Amino acid sequence: MSLPHRVALAPLTRCRTAADRVPSDLHALYYAQRASAAITISEATQISPMGIGYPGTPGLHTESQVQGWKRVADAVHACGGRLFIQLWHVGRVSHPTWLDGETPVSSSAVALRGETRLANGTLVPAVAPRALALDEIPLITRDYVTAARNAMLAGADGVEIHAANGYLIDQFLRDGVNHRRDAYGGSATNRLRFLREVTEGVVDECGSARVGVRLSPTNRFNQIWDSNPHELFTLAAQTLDAFDLAYLHILEGVAGSMSAPAEGCTPVAPSMRKAFRGTVMINGGYDAQTGDAAVRGGLADLVAYGIPFIANPDLPLRYRLGAPITPPNQATWYAQGANGYTDYAPMMHAEPSLANG
Ligand SMILES: Cc1cc2nc3c(=O)[nH]c(=O)nc-3n(C[C@H](O)[C@H](O)[C@H](O)COP(=O)(O)O)c2cc1C
Repeated sequence: MSLPHRVALAPLTRCRTAADRVPSDLHALYYAQRASAAITISEATQISPMGIGYPGTPGLHTESQVQGWKRVADAVHACGGRLFIQLWHVGRVSHPTWLDGETPVSSSAVALRGETRLANGTLVPAVAPRALALDEIPLITRDYVTAARNAMLAGADGVEIHAANGYLIDQFLRDGVNHRRDAYGGSATNRLRFLREVTEGVVDECGSARVGVRLSPTNRFNQIWDSNPHELFTLAAQTLDAFDLAYLHILEGVAGSMSAPAEGCTPVAPSMRKAFRGTVMINGGYDAQTGDAAVRGGLADLVAYGIPFIANPDLPLRYRLGAPITPPNQATWYAQGANGYTDYAPMMHAEPSLANG
């Protein structure tokens, strides 16, 4: 895949689907507006009903969701872009109210501390997940593969396996949560098994050039942590290197940013870069200058931008011209409708038209 530049859209959950969790014309417009990204990576998208953990997040496991994503893919393509859909299962970061009363699943029965927010906005204590039985794990791998197939049916250019930010795959990777004693727990190699099997299945389904993987080696989002992130994530990069992926996406932010390595952790991205010979995308708190420096310094080939893209749909153009960057309104990150979503004006090009579908 040849790209016009190195500025990608980082995945951003915006919670704007209706109860059917189907991307709508509003989603198509939002992504079309951001189709000038080198790769337009979608918001996290559930692979199955058990993967749900938040209101208004889209899925990729029903026919109508596939059709919804097709509208998005068509709109991105009409604007000359490339769409990767991020495949997601939240694991323990869920609650029975999202799961028809079922208990969330994880690598081990280790609960999040504190509270979780329900659909109606009330805060309730987090629920302990149940550890997946050995024979259930291949079924979840199969759900990733089915969702990847659905992404291809929808006309997406690729999928990004979400193995970051303390969600299900990360709950297998890191030993702060994974206390299993079977083939999926213990050594770093064993904790990597689930990611390796998911990647293998999705690559078999889509072809390696259509698959990216996102890892966050040193953040503690969703109370995830590991005793040796250097060993684990360097091995992860080595393991993924064998798949000849479209890219490895590393979320490890610049010093001082919200996504900088957690206290006590030194950056792992440089050793992951060495271990993975393919295309590397870096993300976290970058701007035009620091992103440029990361590419020139050899840390990465692409830089993904999340928050900067929210209020600047034409971010690559603004960076190229050194134009002013609009700050986003955080109150509307997870709001409803067009407000703070599709109503940020591009600087100078015409609004994408969806008149021809
Ligand atoms: C509103 C919002 C939603 C996000 N949703 C996702 C998501 O769905 N999947 C994901 O992997 N990361 C998600 N992230 C993390 C971003 O992709 C990115 O890693 C983070 O914002 C740091 O990069 P930035 O400083 O360029 O924004 C989200 C971040 C924000 C602010």
